[in-house]
Amino acid sequence: MAIKSLFDLLAEGVEGRGVLVRSDLNVPLDDSGNITDPGRIIASVPTLKALAEAGAKVVVTAHLGRPKGEPDPKFSLAPVAAALGERLGRHVQLAGDVVGTDALARAEGLTDGDVLLLENIRFDARETSKDDAERLALAKALAGLVEAADGTPGAFVSDGFGVVHRKQASVYDVATLLPHYAGTLVDTEVKVLEQLTSSTERPYAVVLGGSKVSDKLAVIENLATKADSIVIGGGMCFTFLAAQGLSVGSSLLQEEMIDTCKTLLETYGDVIHLPVDIVAADKFAADAAAETVPADQIPDGKMGLDIGPESVKRFSALLSNAKTVFWNGPMGVFEFEAFSAGTKGVAEAIIGATGKGAFSVVGGGDSAAAVRLLGLPEDGFSHISTGGGASLEYLEGKTLPGIDVLEA
Ligand code: 3PG
Repeated sequence: MAIKSLFDLLAEGVEGRGVLVRSDLNVPLDDSGNITDPGRIIASVPTLKALAEAGAKVVVTAHLGRPKGEPDPKFSLAPVAAALGERLGRHVQLAGDVVGTDALARAEGLTDGDVLLLENIRFDARETSKDDAERLALAKALAGLVEAADGTPGAFVSDGFGVVHRKQASVYDVATLLPHYAGTLVDTEVKVLEQLTSSTERPYAVVLGGSKVSDKLAVIENLATKADSIVIGGGMCFTFLAAQGLSVGSSLLQEEMIDTCKTLLETYGDVIHLPVDIVAADKFAADAAAETVPADQIPDGKMGLDIGPESVKRFSALLSNAKTVFWNGPMGVFEFEAFSAGTKGVAEAIIGATGKGAFSVVGGGDSAAAVRLLGLPEDGFSHISTGGGASLEYLEGKTLPGIDVLEA
């Protein structure tokens, strides 16, 4: 069955109707609780705005971080509610609890076009429970918040693309209880990923970074037969370099993955490209003394924190011919200026390819944050995904429970 969209719901009419929206508002905060990258909030606005403007009583549920299934002020959605209100151009109330007395009273008091954000859904342990009955009980309470006084059920709009790979109460179970629709963000993201997997123009280049090989293993295995090149940087490249028998100093290393990397290199050596030089430092700090060294000469006691300029040149040459590019994971510690050139250089090469007509997708999380932090033009890419893990799991060929359930 085809997934119904937000437009189908709007066509049915939502004035005065309770609509529960699952958004992904999981934004990074600094130590003082300031939002450092509002990308996901901005991406959540179109669906919420359309519903509020159409007169729905909008109840938004979302998570922030990974609290331990109980209220923890550190993970309160308060800063998010304020930022969302600013972006939406209308007041966003924040409930003091998830589905408790405050949420219930506020939901009952909503008038047409009002927006209520529930407190962090992960303050309730049932959200992530492995027990189906526990999750369903929370989903029922969520559905209750959008039920009309006469018992008419509300509607559910799934718009948190970044969480559709999670089988959680607010993502999956609630869709089994309420008429459900994909929000505009989920709709767009899925179409982009479909394009990456079904009608891929060649050459297809994949750029992978980030710290752990284990996080990217399945995607490497799945894409190695589909892509023409897989360029690897970031902390994970050191496990590959170690698999080639090189010494990596005190760089990040996943010892238990060395054998796996050896096998990957033996099997897909013609597709996988590793850095040939590294920016190494004596400590993990913004002001660490840095030197560029060949990848096979990382000194003992030094750690690689970025790929070097020669690697950027080689990777850029591959990327400039690409017609399709998927990028997930920074090439180095881009948050420190001294170690940001690798990520910036590769991103610029992708922007260059996009300018020549390539279809380019930035796969969420840190890479999306890097684009904004490094001041790169967001419209230099065809699409910047809000879902790191979700887009990776899609490209691994896995079924995403939060999408699957919308088809039923
Ligand atoms: C993300 O940050 O990728 C999403 O918000 C999902 O968060 P999670 O990995 O904690 O489920």
